[in-house]
Amino acid sequence: MSTLDLPDPRPERSVPSPVGRIEHPRATEPAVTADVAIAGLGYVGLPTALAYHHAGQRVVAFDISPHRRAAIERNDVDLLPSDRQRLHRALDDAQFRLVDDPAQLRCARAVIVCVPTPVDRHLVPDLTALRAACETLVEYAVPGQLLMLTSTTYVGCTEDLLVRPLRRRGLVAGEDIHVAFSAERIDPGSAAVRTEQVPRVVAGATSACTGVARRVLAAYAERVHPVPSLAVAEMTKLLENTFRAVNIALVNEFADICGSLGLEVTDVIDAAATKPYGFMPFRPGPGVGGHCIPCDPHYLLWQLRKDRVDAPMISTAMQQIAARPTRVVERLRDVLSRHGLGMPGARVLVSGVTYKPDVADLRESPALEILQRLIEAGAVVGFTDPYVSTATLPNGIDLLRVDDPAAFAPDLVLLHTAHSGTDATWIPDATLVVDGTYGAQALPNRVTL
Ligand SMILES: NC(=O)c1ccc[n+]([C@@H]2O[C@H](COP(=O)([O-])OP(=O)(O)OC[C@H]3O[C@@H](n4cnc5c(N)ncnc54)[C@H](O)[C@@H]3O)[C@@H](O)[C@H]2O)c1
Repeated sequence: MSTLDLPDPRPERSVPSPVGRIEHPRATEPAVTADVAIAGLGYVGLPTALAYHHAGQRVVAFDISPHRRAAIERNDVDLLPSDRQRLHRALDDAQFRLVDDPAQLRCARAVIVCVPTPVDRHLVPDLTALRAACETLVEYAVPGQLLMLTSTTYVGCTEDLLVRPLRRRGLVAGEDIHVAFSAERIDPGSAAVRTEQVPRVVAGATSACTGVARRVLAAYAERVHPVPSLAVAEMTKLLENTFRAVNIALVNEFADICGSLGLEVTDVIDAAATKPYGFMPFRPGPGVGGHCIPCDPHYLLWQLRKDRVDAPMISTAMQQIAARPTRVVERLRDVLSRHGLGMPGARVLVSGVTYKPDVADLRESPALEILQRLIEAGAVVGFTDPYVSTATLPNGIDLLRVDDPAAFAPDLVLLHTAHSGTDATWIPDATLVVDGTYGAQALPNRVTL
């Protein structure tokens, strides 16, 4: 088993605590007992921790949530089967330590932060978790360590939340300590590309920091791509997800246009995708969810607003994305009314509510807003989803899953998320089906959004 080829944290140096904080005894630095510590063990941090452990690294896995730690200990978390096996092995191995004490971060040569970076209901970045995690890192930082941000964030964040606060503590990036940024790019729920195969873009605060961060990432990632600055690395992630957001908004618009022309949009996309260059297929749907596409471009827009810089194309795409659930509900109203049914009292079943197939992640899922708007319009709603037993709507109402969809006797079924193996054979031929997945061509009485 190999361990990271990093300089040892310096044992003799005493480092001042941050101003205003409780003084921690630092006469001698702690022994290095781990190669990597991961702070934040969610959809992204946990598979990363497991990839390091699988690569033979000694891992400290830290999360502030007792609920999350307990679920990890029970191996009761939403993971791919391959990662579930890795977790099973990790939990049996002393080289993988699940901890609740942030002081344990001091024992690792490298500390990687992977905490949530959502937006609030005004679409303004909510940096609460990232700020808190960075304060912890700075507080417990040990000379010689690498501290690396991997959460998606605005340009300049690593400098603001790590480099400057460390300097105030007397730790200069590139001299006393290493600081880097490398956005996570994992695709939860998809086994198409292994964690190790996803190339990592990285930059350090100095070229020495970049060198150390490259080595830390290369301990599990097959390809590491260094870029010239922290800002370039931060902006790269924003480009990746803004690119997706704009293209999803475009293909949704195309789907609506094809619908009005009586064309099947998937026929058009599949045909265009035969072009071997210059076209990348995106798929339309009932909206976007998860922790990336509905959020990340707002980090950029928020930052640009402060500098009074316009980004009209990104703004329009994000408005279209935000408006998609309303558009879906209007379409359902239209389909019902064409069949002589009003929305009030109509029985509408939403099939699949997570934001994408084969995950249990409900964050920002368009289904939640769609269900709430349907209730507000007077419909009698239900949902089915093998991954979700209770869905909490934006207004706080908890909706229980319908276990017997046939008994629910819907007037209309909205196909929202097509999990692998989802069975639609229970839907009676006479029931109206609105296909928000654009993939259920075989169903009778099916119309697209
Ligand atoms: N989910 C995705 O598909 C995806 C993909 C690529 C990148 N990202 C980015 O990765 C980051 C993490 O996303 P996620 O989906 O894994 O989030 P998540 O909500 O699934 O997990 C975050 C974890 O961090 C923990 N946490 C919060 N504050 C903490 C702190 N101060 N110290 C330690 N732990 C703390 C939480 O308890 C939670 O378990 C975000 O910036 C996101 O944009 C997400």
